[in-house]
Amino acid sequence: MQEDGPRHTVPVHRGGKGRMTSFIKIVSYLFFVVTLSLALALGYLRQNPEFRHRWFASVCTCLVSNQPEQHAIRCDLLKDVRGDVLELGPGPATNMECFEGKTSITSYTGIEPNVFLHEVFRNKTAHLSLPFPLELKTLEGEHSGLPDEMFDTVVFTHVLCSVHNATQVLAEVDRVLKPGGRVFFLEHIASPPGSWMRFFQKTIEPVWSIALDGCKFPDTHLLLERFKNQGKEGFEVMYHFFDAPMPLAIVKPHLMGHAVKKGREAGEQ
Ligand SMILES: C[S@@+](CC[C@H](N)C(=O)[O-])C[C@H]1O[C@@H](n2cnc3c(N)ncnc32)[C@H](O)[C@@H]1O
Repeated sequence: MQEDGPRHTVPVHRGGKGRMTSFIKIVSYLFFVVTLSLALALGYLRQNPEFRHRWFASVCTCLVSNQPEQHAIRCDLLKDVRGDVLELGPGPATNMECFEGKTSITSYTGIEPNVFLHEVFRNKTAHLSLPFPLELKTLEGEHSGLPDEMFDTVVFTHVLCSVHNATQVLAEVDRVLKPGGRVFFLEHIASPPGSWMRFFQKTIEPVWSIALDGCKFPDTHLLLERFKNQGKEGFEVMYHFFDAPMPLAIVKPHLMGHAVKKGREAGEQ
């Protein structure tokens, strides 16, 4: 038998509180979906090097194509490049416009491990007036296998942040460079210790590095200080810190400069 008694009804709130609850629910779902998608994308990038290289090739090509102020800084750094030139990680040929019409260059060799950037490099250089033989090889800066003391100049820009082992890359630079040869470099770096920007860089670094094919925020000046004692004779290294005109504040801290390999032929290029 069903008892007759007072009926309890659940009050329906249709006012501001109800709308707020629905809003929080929607935001939570959206947050969950966005976080899950990002986690899946990063996980996939992390475990699939081919996809990571392909993705980075497109990102890198878009990012560097539109930066006239940066271009001027690069070309000023590279104005004295000469002889047989080796470039580490030329990417989408970012620096090649600086070498247009340069008869002081006798040959150019680029070593680029990301094969998806090779076509971009070739397409870009095909439209430039480069009066020297050009070669692009699929090699890594840590162990290029190129002959000892083959080059007069080594160039690398925004590369030490991405390599597996920067110390090994610099040892290799020493090996392939002739005595008296010069190294030109431009690198984005970590902000000084104790700064908010460094805290931010180091916090985001694990995810940043997956999304941008190994790119980190290194203390490159410490490497360069050690580079002064690289090899038998060492290097004379000159560099300065500056804020580059980059669209994102996190990659503004930079250093650039050049190094000269000491040795019997130093200064006689
Ligand atoms: C941020 S991009 C810079 C490209 C170009 N140099 C520029 O200034 O725009 C880093 C480049 O270094 C290359 N790279 C990564 N690891 C390398 C390695 N171990 N040896 C040589 N290049 C490497 C990447 O494939 C990529 O082309």
